[in-house]
Amino acid sequence: MLKLHSMSLPAVLGASLLCVVVARAQSATPAPDNGSLDVEQLFAGTCGFCHSDGGRAAGRGPQLMNSQRDDDFLHNRIKTGKQGAMPAFGESFSDAQIDQIVKYIRALKPREG
Ligand code: HEC
Repeated sequence: MLKLHSMSLPAVLGASLLCVVVARAQSATPAPDNGSLDVEQLFAGTCGFCHSDGGRAAGRGPQLMNSQRDDDFLHNRIKTGKQGAMPAFGESFSDAQIDQIVKYIRALKPREG
């Protein structure tokens, strides 16, 4: 769990550089300094490739709106991904940020009009 803290500084720097590169490649929005995310933008950039219409519709991945799964399942799926289906985002986002994403998913409503 705390493996980041036991990494050497160069390894941590290297890892965060890699994260930046990966985040750029996925056109994610970098987290603002307060650690909170613009989840809607992040989702559109990073997850929208597979979860269509902000998670409201199925794409390569399933529809997330009205998911029957519990919060722990959603959290863990985002964190660890699924082999051959969905990338893991545990290196890109903190647990608190993943919780924000789960909240976003829970708050999804069909678009008006
Ligand atoms: C490369 C395509 C891809 C990307 C990118 C992706 N997902 Fe997924 N996602 C999937 C697939 C496929 C599944 C279904 C996995 C399975 O078979 O259980 C899934 C499942 C999920 C689930 C569980 C839903 C359920 O009911 O089983 C959640 C939550 C989820 N994704 C959130 C996200 C979030 C948040 C992001 C962006 C940070 C993201 N996904 C990015 C493909 C993707």
